[in-house]
Amino acid sequence: MTTNGWIRVAIFGVICLSPWLCLVNAEGHVHQNANKLNCNRYEGSWVRDNSYPLYDSSKCPHIDKQFDCVKYGRPDHEYLKYRWQPQSCDLPRFDGKSFLTKFKGKQIMFIGDSISVNQYQSLICMLHSSVPEIRILTEGRGHVINNTFQGYGVSVILSFSTHLVDIVNGPNGRILKLDSIQNGELWKQMDVLVFNTWLWWYRDGPKQPWDYIQIGNKIIKDMDRMEAFKLGLTTWANWVDTKVDTQKTKWNEPKLTNCAKETVPVNGSRYPTGLGRESYVLQDALNRIKKPVQLLNVTILSQLRKDAHPSSYNGIGGIDCTHWCIAGLMDTWNLLLYTELM
Ligand SMILES: *[C@@H]1O[C@H](CO)[C@@H](O)[C@H](O)[C@H]1NC(C)=O
Ligand SMILES: *[C@@H]1O[C@H](CO)[C@@H](O)[C@H](O)[C@H]1NC(C)=O
Ligand SMILES: *[C@@H]1O[C@H](CO)[C@@H](O)[C@H](O)[C@H]1NC(C)=O
Repeated sequence: MTTNGWIRVAIFGVICLSPWLCLVNAEGHVHQNANKLNCNRYEGSWVRDNSYPLYDSSKCPHIDKQFDCVKYGRPDHEYLKYRWQPQSCDLPRFDGKSFLTKFKGKQIMFIGDSISVNQYQSLICMLHSSVPEIRILTEGRGHVINNTFQGYGVSVILSFSTHLVDIVNGPNGRILKLDSIQNGELWKQMDVLVFNTWLWWYRDGPKQPWDYIQIGNKIIKDMDRMEAFKLGLTTWANWVDTKVDTQKTKWNEPKLTNCAKETVPVNGSRYPTGLGRESYVLQDALNRIKKPVQLLNVTILSQLRKDAHPSSYNGIGGIDCTHWCIAGLMDTWNLLLYTELM
């Protein structure tokens, strides 16, 4: 990785776990950050703000039809009008030009499932609205998509990966290799990495993208999914530590909550059901990483936004209470990422 001046401290952004984000500092230097906020910016509430949304989604040509709620007929626009207000400090205003200037010539990669697609498209819209005159060169399709803001040479890249660890084709089917991360070779070359994984770990039936699980030399048909998740995250945590410069419990797929007709956030700063067990597994994996790790802990602020899902207002049909409308909540995730990086 190229290093000079402040970019020595280029941050390895890591969304560890949807919907958490965590950042790993590339070289162990702590980035002296003028905007460093001395407060827990993840504790707060949603407040109405007339200056929101941050951009007009109809002017952003980079939104999948899955997320483009206004285009697909969402009649209420109130959900666009909320700003995250931490309890004891204010977030900076997003300034796309300074971001592009600061990250000139750098590559920012989002690695993970469709939530990563969701988040990276929001970031592209936020940047695009700051510099609408700048051309965006899009290269690649499928699993790696590279969008470069020409003139600044800033690349915002998506690397699609359901589990972060490898899925390979074996003689008898697809194998989820809980102890292997081959794609890491590409990831290592990036200046910022934003990881995210969670959604796919409990999927089974036709939605399960593997046939066997491999751990070391052992191949098994299935295992407790939380345990698998823990092993996968441990592999990831070791990968971060070594490669980045610088069974017993039953698991049920969470019920799809019905998000239709929700038009306002939960009022307040606490969500009634609290945090799931996966958040403690994540906490464990993070504690094991020796490199400095920052967590963008967006779980609770996202739970409060039951109004911000596409529901039926998407271009692929069905009710979607998993992803988030663009514009919308993802812009706040990116504002928090911006706050970490600037
Ligand atoms: C992304 O595109 C830019 C501009 O073409 C290129 O310099 C960079 O190497 C590409 N990155 C990847 C990972 O493909
Ligand atoms: C939230 O609750 C507070 C106090 O209970 C109330 O003053 C405020 O108007 C409510 N906000 C919204 C957005 O409903
Ligand atoms: C995220 O924040 C919540 C509330 O502030 C806290 O209870 C939780 O432990 C945090 N999660 C992690 C993984 O640090």
